[in-house]
Amino acid sequence: MSDTIDSTSGAIDSILVEKRVFDPVPEVVKGAAISGMQAYQALADEARSDPEGFWARMAHEQLVWHKPFTRVLDESDAPFYRWFDDGELNVSENCLDVHLRNGNADKTAIIFEADDGAIQRVSFRELHARVCRIANALKSLGYGKGDRAILYMPMSIEAIASMQACARLGIVHSVVFGGFSTKSLHQRIVDVQADLVITADEQMRGGRAIPLKAAVDMALTEDGTDHVRHVVVYRRSGGEVAWNAGRDVWLHEITDGQSDQCEPVPVGAEHPLFILYTSGSTGKPKGVQHSSGGYLLWAKLTSQWVFDARPDDVFWCTADVGWVTGHTYITYGTMAAGLTQIVFEGIPTYPDSGRFWDMIQRHKVSIFYTAPTAIRSLIKAASTDPKVHPSNYDLGSLRILGSVGEPINPEAWVWYHQNVGGGRCPVIDTWWQTETGGHILTPLPGATPLKPGSCTLPLPGISVDVVDETGASLPDGRGGFLVITRPWPAMIRTVWGDPDRYVNSYFPPEMKGAYLAGDSAQRDEDGYYWIMGRTDDVLSVSGHRLGGTEIESTLVAHERVAEAAIVGRPDAVTGEAVVAFVVLKGDLPDEAQAPAVADELRRWVASEVGPIAKPREIWFGNAMPKTRSGKIMRRLLRIVAEGQEITQDTSTLENPDVLKQFKGAY
Ligand code: WTA
Repeated sequence: MSDTIDSTSGAIDSILVEKRVFDPVPEVVKGAAISGMQAYQALADEARSDPEGFWARMAHEQLVWHKPFTRVLDESDAPFYRWFDDGELNVSENCLDVHLRNGNADKTAIIFEADDGAIQRVSFRELHARVCRIANALKSLGYGKGDRAILYMPMSIEAIASMQACARLGIVHSVVFGGFSTKSLHQRIVDVQADLVITADEQMRGGRAIPLKAAVDMALTEDGTDHVRHVVVYRRSGGEVAWNAGRDVWLHEITDGQSDQCEPVPVGAEHPLFILYTSGSTGKPKGVQHSSGGYLLWAKLTSQWVFDARPDDVFWCTADVGWVTGHTYITYGTMAAGLTQIVFEGIPTYPDSGRFWDMIQRHKVSIFYTAPTAIRSLIKAASTDPKVHPSNYDLGSLRILGSVGEPINPEAWVWYHQNVGGGRCPVIDTWWQTETGGHILTPLPGATPLKPGSCTLPLPGISVDVVDETGASLPDGRGGFLVITRPWPAMIRTVWGDPDRYVNSYFPPEMKGAYLAGDSAQRDEDGYYWIMGRTDDVLSVSGHRLGGTEIESTLVAHERVAEAAIVGRPDAVTGEAVVAFVVLKGDLPDEAQAPAVADELRRWVASEVGPIAKPREIWFGNAMPKTRSGKIMRRLLRIVAEGQEITQDTSTLENPDVLKQFKGAY
């Protein structure tokens, strides 16, 4: 593990050069939910001196309970922590019914903008009714508490309503991102033992229709899927679909005539709300299991604190509901906080790269939350086509800009701050993970002085540290492993069906009970945190988390491939690019054959994992650089991929000449 830290620590100095502190409280966030550093300190101190009292107060104030909890945190089976575990509540009630009861029934909950620009608005009353109709329909098909549903859907009101309908009945959902392939979908259907699949005929992105139902049909022909009794299909495009009578039902048909009232089913606070698969350091994605009570508490609190949610805000998180960001900051936390939200079906570059700015202008978006990769690609587009530069749009409605998914480089940060926020809006660089459920390290818009490139400080109630490989705390300015030292309510509860993997991945013995995030970081003299990258082989491509090992095993499963290694190469737009090193069975392909073989392997990865995992470059060789114990030296391959000379010591290599054979990429 320490290898990775050494190899990335060079990058930190160049980041620190940009350490410029920005005005702590711009006009647009005066009087924020947490206003000023003293207010932040007061909350953080309260949480530190009496954690149970603090969390109990928050849980009482923020959530509606059917049965109040009497225990806050049960640590007796650590690291399997239990929060509020004898309390009962319903998540959907806390996201919807509460707004109907407090006079906000007619407030707009969602402004949906389709790929082609068509707009649909729904109030909290209407959204509640749709959720109830779907829940009643699922109930009439025989589904209820504890069943598992796989959702494979486009960005739509129906996707969000389906998640909420599951929550209303206590059905555990697992959303699979629409960009994943049949194979990934199948793997997840089997792993969660899904009883139900909810999908759509097709999804529309950038003017193209992409089939979804067809992928579900394929996945269900494979082994291990017998427990799926129904496939519910939302008609999005009207495209042709194959039909399996008895199994397949249309969403509009089963909801037609259903009552718009459905009693929320109370569940224990620890009842799993959802399972979301994420890449880890083995080939098999991990099913991150989240709770109902603790998760929702933190999702709602962070929505209020970090986005300074106000009644007339228009909030836009550009993430897909297939990722955790879309769960916490579209479907759950921000909805529980009562925000009016934009839900966007399309892509930032269609019909042109001014789409985001145009939408912010038209919908008067006040809080905009996106990924650095989107910002970087729009910077690039604006530099070649002045028409799509944000200066052509009135973005005066913006108050707060957010960033998530990967480190935001200071250049992109400053461009975002100046050109999108007009220098008026704080940029909130939020560090968190699928496993953390919600924000962990982030500025608070009305309090924290900003430094471009730093995700600043832990939220109140959160304790983090940077440690070495023995778990010992490191002094400021030293790169090491980022750990979270105390449990928090929205933390991952377990890896679905694999508790040992939960313990081994996140609570290895050397970390002495702290949660190991898998990122390297460093703390500066102001206590600010700077994320340096992953310490495992997880890649971040366009803000999407991909497992290097998963792509490697996929390549090796191809009949032509003997060995494969995946590394991430820094990329100005996508953060990292997937680079594959491949040893074929048989001879090395010559220059004439290599491009075709590379294309074949790319298509294979696209069909097995998903198009987002396709290697940008493939290098062919006769052997892999390995240590004497047989471990592939990815560190050296990374240098080759970056086109640099290897100056490091290669004496631990079994065969130091092996690196010379990788001559060029296809
Ligand atoms: C990375 C996304 C730097 C990090 C919410 C983490 C970040 C992984 C940031 C989790 C940030 C996320 N600065 N790096 N602000 N936010 N990351 O599970 O490596 O898809 O471990 O959750 O993204 O990705 P995930």
